[in-house]
Amino acid sequence: MRRHVLLLAILVGPALASVPEWGQCGGLGWTGETDCAAGLVCIEQNEYYSQCLAGTTTTIITTPTTVSITSTVKSTTTVSTTSTVKSTTTSSAPTATGSSRLGGLIPSTSSSHKVDVKYLHLRSNAYWPALLGYSDAAIDQAFSDIAGSGATVCRLTIPADYLISSAKSHGIKLLITLTNNWSDFGGMDVYTVQLLGSGLPHDTFYTNPTVVAAYKAYVQAIVMRYLTEDTIMAWELANEPRCAGTSTAASATCNSTVITNWAAEISAYIKSLDPNHLVAIGDEGFINDPLPHDYDYPYQGGGIGIDFEANLAIDTLDFGTFHMYPDSWGESGNDIAWGQQWITDHATIMTSANKPAIMEEFGLTYTGTQRADDYATWYDTVISTGLTGDLLWQAGSVFNGTETPNDGYAIYPTDPVYTLLQQHAAALKARG
Ligand SMILES: *[C@@H]1O[C@H](CO)[C@@H](O)[C@H](O)[C@H]1NC(C)=O
Ligand SMILES: *[C@@H]1O[C@H](CO)[C@@H](O)[C@H](O)[C@H]1NC(C)=O
Ligand SMILES: *[C@@H]1O[C@H](CO)[C@@H](O)[C@H](O)[C@H]1NC(C)=O
Repeated sequence: MRRHVLLLAILVGPALASVPEWGQCGGLGWTGETDCAAGLVCIEQNEYYSQCLAGTTTTIITTPTTVSITSTVKSTTTVSTTSTVKSTTTSSAPTATGSSRLGGLIPSTSSSHKVDVKYLHLRSNAYWPALLGYSDAAIDQAFSDIAGSGATVCRLTIPADYLISSAKSHGIKLLITLTNNWSDFGGMDVYTVQLLGSGLPHDTFYTNPTVVAAYKAYVQAIVMRYLTEDTIMAWELANEPRCAGTSTAASATCNSTVITNWAAEISAYIKSLDPNHLVAIGDEGFINDPLPHDYDYPYQGGGIGIDFEANLAIDTLDFGTFHMYPDSWGESGNDIAWGQQWITDHATIMTSANKPAIMEEFGLTYTGTQRADDYATWYDTVISTGLTGDLLWQAGSVFNGTETPNDGYAIYPTDPVYTLLQQHAAALKARG
């Protein structure tokens, strides 16, 4: 979302007499309650995190398939045993559905880098733990809230060692975004202004050799530091890159080709340094197909600077990303149905590209049960179209009575959407 960078989460109170569904009941270092409430079973998700789940879901989760992939691969979600599976032996004819699952795509160069198929189920954005100076206790609670919503992945801006260890101990993988189009917390314009001076078009960031070299140097420092960190699932090049910036205009010649070329160059650079992690853009996934869509703004991607389909074809990008804010994009009169179409259109492109795609930010700012009902409608579309996964904008926690920042989208553990997240998590897992 514009003002912020990224990340979401959810709940699980400490000190419960017995652990409710989705709550943590074990894992390395866990000192809390280990007895699950009636009808629930404590299921190990990984060595750091076990969770109370209803008996019906255990068959899915107790197949801790490890997937290690050594080459460019598409698929492997056909995994239903507990043995280690090499994708190369199971991917004879990858189906669109199989290849739209991230779990089978996690590259690996070391035997310790194993990813369970459950990671195809994504969820959560939270920019604030990394940026607002919270205590370790607060960060732990944030990740506990996130894990309690059924999330397996959280999207953050900058990595930090405590964030990573806390995410690890809660069984959460991280999607790390390397810079921001928007000017919040620094971003692209900071590079151009500091290196070249003010007044230049926003897209100078993608094309000026001095700026590109500086950005690559930063990327290299981060990526090399966390080269073997298996809590990081993927690197994202930037949050919401576009031709224009917050306070800087686009040059007359900028279009989606500029950002597609930049994404190809930077993603190839990251892959040359780091074969261990997935790479994606982190963009809004605008579609470049103006005419059939009657010039509907989000389908004018060529001019905005994003062509979802062209970007998905880049070899060194492992999955596609898109966002969805119909009420900010001029679709408020018909936001829910428009959103269903937006999800469906991306799933269609995903399927023909034979690559995964995730809706990694979306949200509505009204509150209460109406919002939960509307999200449920979108979640049904995610499930029915086979979209790889989704991350809601954004997670909220309450630390000793103080709420984390709320831009209107935050979901605290008491929100009706929190319960919906748990149900959606179960539906995504059940899909396999
Ligand atoms: C809440 O306050 C207690 C007592 O000051 C402190 O120990 C704890 O770390 C705080 N929790 C969070 C999440 O800030
Ligand atoms: C990028 O940021 C600028 C302002 O910083 C804003 O005008 C533009 O719409 C942003 N693009 C995206 C995709 O967020
Ligand atoms: C962007 O502009 C260049 C140069 O004018 C052109 O070759 C290219 O086709 C344009 N890309 C799109 C997506 O329209």
